[in-house]
Amino acid sequence: MPAISASAPGKIILFGEHAVVYSRPAIAIPLMQLKATAFFLADPTAPLGNIKLTAADIGMQTNLNDLAEDHPFRVLFQLVQNHFQLDHFPAMSVKIRSEIPIAAGLGSGTAVSVALIHGLSLFLGAKLSAAQISALAFEVEKVYHGTPSGVDNTVITYEKPVFFMKDHLPEPIYVGNDCTFLIADTGIKSMTSSVVGEVRINWENNRKHYESIFDSIASITQEAKEMLISGDEKQIGELMNKNYHLLVQMGVSCDPLDHLVTVALHAGALGAKLSGAGKGGNIIALVQESSARDVRLALENAGATRVIQITLNKTESTKTAKKVIS
Ligand code: MEV
Repeated sequence: MPAISASAPGKIILFGEHAVVYSRPAIAIPLMQLKATAFFLADPTAPLGNIKLTAADIGMQTNLNDLAEDHPFRVLFQLVQNHFQLDHFPAMSVKIRSEIPIAAGLGSGTAVSVALIHGLSLFLGAKLSAAQISALAFEVEKVYHGTPSGVDNTVITYEKPVFFMKDHLPEPIYVGNDCTFLIADTGIKSMTSSVVGEVRINWENNRKHYESIFDSIASITQEAKEMLISGDEKQIGELMNKNYHLLVQMGVSCDPLDHLVTVALHAGALGAKLSGAGKGGNIIALVQESSARDVRLALENAGATRVIQITLNKTESTKTAKKVIS
């Protein structure tokens, strides 16, 4: 049997992180230039159910059954096995490769899950819909961080910009104008699970305050959706700044993130904010095409370990967005 492979992109949250865990909306974009890929090869010489796993990026070379039962990879294979009602998987060797930085708020773990689930279904000769892949990946997300909102598995599976709210169908975002963003990495690793856990403790201790922050972020995210649709870059930038200040109030920023946000704004960005769980990872800045180079250079000089440029293209997103909920 020839090798089978499947890939999934990284992601970046444009609006609404953390608040989305508490049933407010978020807007997220796939990062198509960074991918995780899973390769599957049948191993007819090994006994049924024998699965060799190699993930060089995290120094893993093991047999699936040697991992703890609650390891996300073990849970993922079990979920797929249950879904297809299999007694055993055929013996196989699986290699995982990822270009997505780990613990940087760019969806590395989720992209690996989506690539594994999609690839496994292809390897079995079966087909899973995007909704089924996303739902299975969501179950694995719970192992990674207990109370995920579902935004990461959704944007990574559908590979389209989405307006997302828990228990609602994801809505496509129709961008009214090309929007260019720079994504700059502080180089500081931050675990989503621990920052989400800290926010939960603070929310439990001061619900009124946190609920009011989440409500303000929800209004910003709603407004941002309209501004993205109408293509009003100036307003989108201002809303990013407002969302950022609320994330600071929430206690999820840190000096290196604040520094990169300030540098981006001084260099001419229309708006900037931390993205993802915070306490490290990346910022996202909205820039005009004409100032993208200056902002990028300023971020690199300020110590960003990697700067990625993405453009949400007007016609492209309008053409493809309808597929999001199909
Ligand atoms: C992580 O990408 C975004 C958070 O809102 C967590 C979640 O939505 O599950 C911080």
